[in-house]
Amino acid sequence: MAFESATGSDVIVASTSGPLSGEVTVPGAKNSVLKLMAATLLADGTHTLTNAPVIVDVEIMADLLRELGLVISFDPAAPGETGQRITIVNNGRITPVAPFELADRIRASVNVVGPLLGRFGHVDIALPGGDDFGGRPIDMHLRGLEAMGAEFQASSGSVIGRCGRLRGADIVFDFPSVGATENILMAAVVAEGVTTIRNAAREPEIVDLCSMLRQMGARIEGAGTDVIIVTGVDASVMQAVTHEVVTDRVQVATYMAAVAVCKGDIVIRRARLEHMGMLVERFTEMGVTIEGIEGGARVSCHGPLSPVNVSTLPYPGFATDYKPLVVIMLAMSTGTGIVTENLYPGRFKYVEELRKLGTDIEIDGHHAIVRGVEHLHGATVNAPDIRAGAALVVAGLAAQGITEIHDVHHIDRGYDDIVGRLASLGASVSRIRR
Ligand code: EPU
Repeated sequence: MAFESATGSDVIVASTSGPLSGEVTVPGAKNSVLKLMAATLLADGTHTLTNAPVIVDVEIMADLLRELGLVISFDPAAPGETGQRITIVNNGRITPVAPFELADRIRASVNVVGPLLGRFGHVDIALPGGDDFGGRPIDMHLRGLEAMGAEFQASSGSVIGRCGRLRGADIVFDFPSVGATENILMAAVVAEGVTTIRNAAREPEIVDLCSMLRQMGARIEGAGTDVIIVTGVDASVMQAVTHEVVTDRVQVATYMAAVAVCKGDIVIRRARLEHMGMLVERFTEMGVTIEGIEGGARVSCHGPLSPVNVSTLPYPGFATDYKPLVVIMLAMSTGTGIVTENLYPGRFKYVEELRKLGTDIEIDGHHAIVRGVEHLHGATVNAPDIRAGAALVVAGLAAQGITEIHDVHHIDRGYDDIVGRLASLGASVSRIRR
């Protein structure tokens, strides 16, 4: 995989494609693997994560965990697997402090706060912002941990916290935050007594984390529901495990959207449609045929796309991470659809880039009014974040002429070889060094 260098940067070049055909295999989810990697702080021994995606955020997380004392190596996928294998050795010699210089690279740093406090009673770590969707506070993470006995020192840009052994608590979230649910979970598994998380996030990636933690020795009930009950165990009970990362539903949705706009008929191996109910419903209404098959899904689209209205919501609602894909599909539909963003106030910034391709999109507060146009045309655009970047690549396949997508380092953070996978379906897309 080629990444940005001091001497040049990569550009993705896409041109009119379709119909798509063939098969693509999707690896594990970024939003699961980063948390599973953090969970290895909770038990000594050799952990293995299989089906892990080959993405930059995994490398960044590995750098952070190495700073803390874990020994991490990457191996190719074994036969029958995809992505890569990550081996993480925890020899118990952990320093729960990461130097501030790492801050720019460590977007996943918040994920280590819960396990470090839970097991070691100390954390001192810089917190950068992640994608720029407006403010992304962590007040719910900190309030939950405080309810369990942690004390935080006020500091801008860092989380510095200390505690004795955490105590179980009854925690009610204002909002089912994915990250806060994960942090409290990882702290609670080794706390003293019972922790109840109410209004917990229910995402498949949370269920995946709970399943790995249980395999390690944790006692967790209610994963996948809005009340999760964790009965703390002594840290010595926790053991290293081998775990397969749950398939990335956003990457699956990306290949589905590519078929929707380019037409064709493809098979997506490892797709887990049971994790994508709302998306399957909306895409089906738009005219995409999605069928579960053994080990994956078959996706086809041969006619025009009908407009729908979509509102992003926490799982099982329509994920905010799918949104740029549905915006592109609506931009090529036969009517007008309204897309409402309920999670991130700033997550419409990419619309400016989409307009360069000839889309007709109006923003009104947290609504996007997307009017279908007959044709998109190629343009030079910048990927503003992971998901919008991938949607621009998909749009480039449907646009007439050539689309150049710059700033592809954003896409590399979360997509495992999107160019190779789309090309294997017959799309005209390549990656070049400028
Ligand atoms: N929020 C607070 N206070 C908190 C925590 C969250 O106000 O203490 C707010 C956030 O500011 C945001 C909303 O709640 O407006 C949702 O945040 P949540 O905590 O649920 O999200 P997250 O854990 O920060 C994860 C994914 C995101 C994904 C969201 C929602 C990871 C690493 N990131 O973020 O993924 O959009 O859940 O599903 O798991 C991406 O992959 O491109 C991405 C941004």
